[in-house]
Amino acid sequence: MGGDRVRAEIAIIGGSGLYALDLLEGAREVTLETPYGRPPELVVGRLGGREVAFMPRHGRGHTVPPHLVNYRANLWALRELGVTRVLATTASGSMNRRMRPGELALLHQFVDFTKQRAMTFYEGGEKGVVHVDVTEPYCPELRRSLLEAAKELKLKLHPRATYACTEGPRFETAAEIRAMRRLGCDLVGMTNVPECVLARELELCYAAVAVITNFAAGISRGKLTHAEVAELMAASAGRVKALLAEAVARIPEKRSCGCGRALEGAVVKV
Ligand code: HPA
Repeated sequence: MGGDRVRAEIAIIGGSGLYALDLLEGAREVTLETPYGRPPELVVGRLGGREVAFMPRHGRGHTVPPHLVNYRANLWALRELGVTRVLATTASGSMNRRMRPGELALLHQFVDFTKQRAMTFYEGGEKGVVHVDVTEPYCPELRRSLLEAAKELKLKLHPRATYACTEGPRFETAAEIRAMRRLGCDLVGMTNVPECVLARELELCYAAVAVITNFAAGISRGKLTHAEVAELMAASAGRVKALLAEAVARIPEKRSCGCGRALEGAVVKV
């Protein structure tokens, strides 16, 4: 089905281990094209009385590695559907002993260590130049909905995690993790940047729940494996879906945050 007739208000981007959202009622598949290419298969359905789009970030069969995710196509497609709010999940390693594998954390800040990703929709020339503010990179209103949802469900959700985004697809060295820890990072993952930044450039609200799958390199004793990450993601999927569903129902109809005005004062004019 084409995207022109289907609309959605809220999107959920599923990270590693979250490839489908069986909670959506009347789910329809939507195929979209964007100026940046084709995003992964999208499904739109109803959840908690709202029209919700679900997109598996890495594709349904996890065929796209983090450094090759077409973040611009993904966010553009969601905006084309009418989405204004995006909730994302992201598998993360922890370098903070209080944030333990199997637990969930709400991202509050990020430090960007990526190297070669398309970081902006504004590449100069006709597209213009934009310097968007990311002092507070995650939407406070969506963060509040997620925190209230966790409280209601009596789910442990660390409220303020600083996330280091690495280029991947390799895991980090022990020295890299020591350095990131000294810089004040709690978690490490490979996908939240530029996803979060591109959402801001499109004036979308964006928040991300980290699923902590392992202690990071040098903190965990053994070798890091994707199998371990996948195992913990699978074990956490039920809790994450319940949290997202409860949060969706709590998102206020009208936005009262500043995300919808992110481009005010950000566009370079000569
Ligand atoms: N490092 C980077 N990305 C990750 C990790 C990690 O330890 N765990 C899950 N995603």
